[in-house]
Amino acid sequence: MSRIEKLLSQMTLAEKLGQLTMTASGYAVTGPIIAGDSTESIKDGTIGNLLNIIGPGPTREVQQIAVEQTRLGIPLLIGLDIIHGHRTLFPIPLAEAALFDDAAWELSAREAAREGASDGLSMTFAPMLDVSRDPRWGRTAEGSGEDPYLTSRMARAKVRGFQGSSLSSADAIAACAKHFCAYGPVTAGREYASVDISERTLHEVHLPPFVAAVAAGVATIMPAFTDLAGIPMTAHKALLRDYLRDQLGFDGVLVSDYNAIGELMRHGVAADLADAAALALKAGVDIDMMADGYRKGLPIALERGTVTMDDIDVCVRRVLKLKEDLGLFDDPYRRGASAEAPEVLIERRQLARRIGARAITMLKNERDTLPLSPTVKRLSVIGPLADAGPEMRGCWWSAGENEPHVGVLAGIRKGFPNTEIRHAPGTAINSADRSGIPAALQLCNDTDAVLLCLGEATAMSGEAASRAYPELPGQQLALAEAVFEHARERGVPVIVVLFSGRPLVIPLLAEKADALLAAWFLGTEAGNAISDVVSGIVSPSGRTPMSWPRALGQVPIFFGQRNSGRPLSQGDSFTSRYLDVPNDPLYPFGHGLSYGSFVYDNLRITPDNASEADVITVRVDVGNHGRHGAEETVFLFTHDKVASVARPLLELKGYGKISLQPGETGTVELLLPASELRFLGIDLKPVFEAGDIEILVGASAERSRLLLGHLQLTD
Ligand code: BGC
Repeated sequence: MSRIEKLLSQMTLAEKLGQLTMTASGYAVTGPIIAGDSTESIKDGTIGNLLNIIGPGPTREVQQIAVEQTRLGIPLLIGLDIIHGHRTLFPIPLAEAALFDDAAWELSAREAAREGASDGLSMTFAPMLDVSRDPRWGRTAEGSGEDPYLTSRMARAKVRGFQGSSLSSADAIAACAKHFCAYGPVTAGREYASVDISERTLHEVHLPPFVAAVAAGVATIMPAFTDLAGIPMTAHKALLRDYLRDQLGFDGVLVSDYNAIGELMRHGVAADLADAAALALKAGVDIDMMADGYRKGLPIALERGTVTMDDIDVCVRRVLKLKEDLGLFDDPYRRGASAEAPEVLIERRQLARRIGARAITMLKNERDTLPLSPTVKRLSVIGPLADAGPEMRGCWWSAGENEPHVGVLAGIRKGFPNTEIRHAPGTAINSADRSGIPAALQLCNDTDAVLLCLGEATAMSGEAASRAYPELPGQQLALAEAVFEHARERGVPVIVVLFSGRPLVIPLLAEKADALLAAWFLGTEAGNAISDVVSGIVSPSGRTPMSWPRALGQVPIFFGQRNSGRPLSQGDSFTSRYLDVPNDPLYPFGHGLSYGSFVYDNLRITPDNASEADVITVRVDVGNHGRHGAEETVFLFTHDKVASVARPLLELKGYGKISLQPGETGTVELLLPASELRFLGIDLKPVFEAGDIEILVGASAERSRLLLGHLQLTD
């Protein structure tokens, strides 16, 4: 008999339900504090999994209780939200997406996993794979933006990074693809609100990242808090059981979101906790995080006959199998056994700095305002986010809450040692107080440049952080207007460094700033990364993974829209448009400048008939006509012009990179698998349809600037 079957045959119902329970915990000087429970529950085997316990000492202590003081000695699964780093914080996922670099995404996850595992953790609740096309939604910060292809590539890279080559190795942790699925299109961008989308959008936009995660071997998946057309995801049998398990073959662990099983009652699909627990179990949810619905509700559900012991056993097997795969039975202390060497931590911070610098997305750079010369004499660093180390963290900080985070001022001081640096906040991030503005304006006299650090507080994005006005909060716009005016009169350039967990609506900054850097939230090394870009040590190369709206009324705005029967056409009023704002975004998906200047030419497609090859090779020549060496990201889109179903005007199918010195030209080669030309037909079954496919290649989703080629698809 296998270890798992043997254990199962010995377990009481209470012990089985313990394995299906994950409880939040903390730690005090007196020892572990388990939410609503005590360590006695670990001892009697009625809590089998924990989340939120931090530090190698505390994790070891609770693991010892489980392994050495319980009847069956089953180790705990211990999870934490390691979303963009553990102690060393990397850029938020939205910022990291701007790299369009799968290897870098994998590497930061690998490093975060090593750091987390060395704290005794065996699971993270990441990657977050929710496609977001609505910047009102605060959780936009946690994902990869608006595109399913990009999010799918992120999914693969992150799963590989967290889980490494073997789940059982001491530095691997189980990844958790979340939140399954279609959490991004919450009604009106309001957190936790209902979702109603078409089957097509579900299958073409929101499911592909999860398909990719499952194909990459993700160990666990978390259903979303939300409902989809009235069925809460935590109880969504058709998607969890029929689609995820039966169709995709996912046999890992489904872990509920925090209290989501209990919330089935609030959704209005369960009358009591036993009902809620039965719905979730029947849908295939293995672990109940924080609702205590399985421990309290399933015994009643068993009596009612709404679940069977077999239903419970199936879930227990899956949880035990995960623990086995993680190597926890063989050596429960393999994670957290030894502290990491100081040089490892130093190297990790350097990686965070490099990734941070590459995530910075330069939205505007008039008259080559940036980079600043290292010999600049005086620099004024103004704004509420200039000297704000803790604000650099971003939406999830895992164990990094109290680590030192480098703010802009500190980074600039180090990066410009011979420059006189002056600073004034001007105003707080979100207050009505303008009294600090005059002092800030003083610093615009007699200075060579102003670095104006504006944006959201780190807590204004992430979970439960939807904003109806995704703009500069407080009096920052007043500060910006005053600084622009004052500086312009004196001929002083103003460089805006903008912090946000989402694209913001910033028409004034876009118009008046001489240079504009989207710095998102870059984590531990933020200030140094920003300094590297401002000084020109690093040429910015981030490309926005989301369209930036001109006005909130354009939301949801994304490049993958269909043409409609009345596409915008100049001079014709009865076309799809606004009376008061253009249709296009302020900055399109993929936009991002560098210190180079790139020109595209000579698009080649071989073969030009897709039925002749499994993979089409698309080549384009790129030349750097600028004065600085820089890296360029090249995007490959397709458009199926005539099909049985109207297709989006652009579908992202690939991206590549090239680094070029001034005057240099190179060729970027992008591979397009012919299978990528399949789409969901009228009956939502995958089809290839003969015809002409447009191949569009260039620097962003601004369609008119893309090089156009053609590919034939014959039967
Ligand atoms: C969030 C999840 C997270 C969980 C555990 C929930 O509120 O929605 O994304 O993993 O808490 O912290």
